[in-house]
Amino acid sequence: MYVSMKDMLWHAHNNNYAVMAINCVNMEQAKAIIQSAEEERSAVILNISPRQMKAHGHGEILAPMIRGMAERVSVPVAFNLDHGANLEDITAAMSYGFSSVMIDASGFAFEENVRRTQIVASMAHGMGLSCEAELGHVGLAKEADNEKEDLYTNPEQAREFAERTGCDCLAVAIGTAHGSYPKGFVPRLDFERLALLKETLQMPLVLHGGSGAGEENIKKAVACGINKINVCTDLFKHARIATAKTLEENPEIDYMDLCIAAQNAMKEFIKSYMRIIGSSGQYDFEQYQGPELD
Ligand code: 13P
Repeated sequence: MYVSMKDMLWHAHNNNYAVMAINCVNMEQAKAIIQSAEEERSAVILNISPRQMKAHGHGEILAPMIRGMAERVSVPVAFNLDHGANLEDITAAMSYGFSSVMIDASGFAFEENVRRTQIVASMAHGMGLSCEAELGHVGLAKEADNEKEDLYTNPEQAREFAERTGCDCLAVAIGTAHGSYPKGFVPRLDFERLALLKETLQMPLVLHGGSGAGEENIKKAVACGINKINVCTDLFKHARIATAKTLEENPEIDYMDLCIAAQNAMKEFIKSYMRIIGSSGQYDFEQYQGPELD
């Protein structure tokens, strides 16, 4: 089923688990992600950023391919623009057939973030798409130091933000960061703040920087109220390692078989992550009474 993120994230919110949102720039990744979801009976979100679209996976090509794959499986699959920063990128994603968009105006002051998010949320909702926003700011893992609490999300401000913008889910800053952390660094997450955010907002919450945060942190984040976890770096790493290993073992391997080896390694990683965050088995249709295709 090709759907927006809205109903699947409310299902996750109501049942205390999280859905993976995985960056995808090509067919092998799309197949790995959607097949994993189907086999695990899990909802899933495919993400792509404007930078990734410009560099490699053009949205105009990927959106119909992903939609076609999603319509051939029985679990909910969404395609979301990750970190949309301007109206040009966001309206382009809408016209390509994405089922969801994120507006990331977290680098602006509060009122400007509200204003930009209001515009995008109302456009998205008018087209039947979901809208993610960010308050507080999730930075880069290579600059992580566990001390940037001034950028963490304030619960009272977040309540006002969610009410005024009508966003469907909110990315919060609680200590994770994007990319690879320095060797040996484990992020310290502010679980107290997260629990308070959940209690105050009572809506689906998003964790960016799902790579390298450690299984214990991830499980606790889900237990405290995270319903969508963005993962990019770890997936790309699994594909790279599998490609290098396969080539080393068989330097003459056919290129298609090399792609399939990477795809299978990505599937293994995704399926085990889905089990950790509790999305596996949620769309076992004997129990599931959810929405139909949007
Ligand atoms: P990682 O690359 O750290 O997994 O972060 C992904 C992300 O948050 C994309 O928005």
